[in-house]
Amino acid sequence: MDTLAAIRSRRTHKAFTPGDLAPERIDRCLEAATWAPTHRMTQPWRFAVLDRSAITRWTAFVAGRPDIIGWPDPAKGAAKWAKLGERLPGLAAIVLATWVRDADPGVDLEEHAAASAAVQNLLLAATADGLASFWSTNAVFAHPESLRWCGADPAREGFLGAIWLGVPAGDPPAVPARRPLSERVRRV
Ligand SMILES: Cc1cc2nc3c(=O)[nH]c(=O)nc-3n(C[C@H](O)[C@H](O)[C@H](O)COP(=O)(O)O)c2cc1C
Repeated sequence: MDTLAAIRSRRTHKAFTPGDLAPERIDRCLEAATWAPTHRMTQPWRFAVLDRSAITRWTAFVAGRPDIIGWPDPAKGAAKWAKLGERLPGLAAIVLATWVRDADPGVDLEEHAAASAAVQNLLLAATADGLASFWSTNAVFAHPESLRWCGADPAREGFLGAIWLGVPAGDPPAVPARRPLSERVRRV
């Protein structure tokens, strides 16, 4: 698939055919991620890969932690967790993406930008490989205890997202067209 075709056809897709993904397919997406631009070559992205077995273990961990499920909004937490429970069992992999924070706010913005570019690379590589993907920022993944469970250090790393990967079930939902360029571009 050429680059423009991958960019155009990548869609948030939350319906997966249950099954595993060969680790090499996930690694190909991660390897593509690491070619993102990075100022001073700091390569601030960090990825934790959860395969089906890890997703099952993480789900059991969170299920026993009402404090994580109810964070930051106890009123909405249980319903959101129940919805996740319907989707997660079919999922092949989650890549938890973080970036290494920098004490200098300007540099930290750059590091966040670089790691976000890496996530987009990952999504495009997944699309090119025929995989469905979904960038989730559901708070249960962002909770410091979830980050720790995945081996990330929440004191040093910021949460970027939990990237769901798997074999698609059906077509992705249609999304509205993007706003016209004239509304978003200033020609100076
Ligand atoms: C940083 C980021 C976080 C996102 N978090 C969520 C999320 O938690 N839940 C969700 O349904 N979609 C989430 N999305 C996906 C957007 O809703 C989606 O990209 C948007 O609807 C456009 O659809 P498309 O990805 O198919 O172009 C997130 C996207 C980004 C960039």
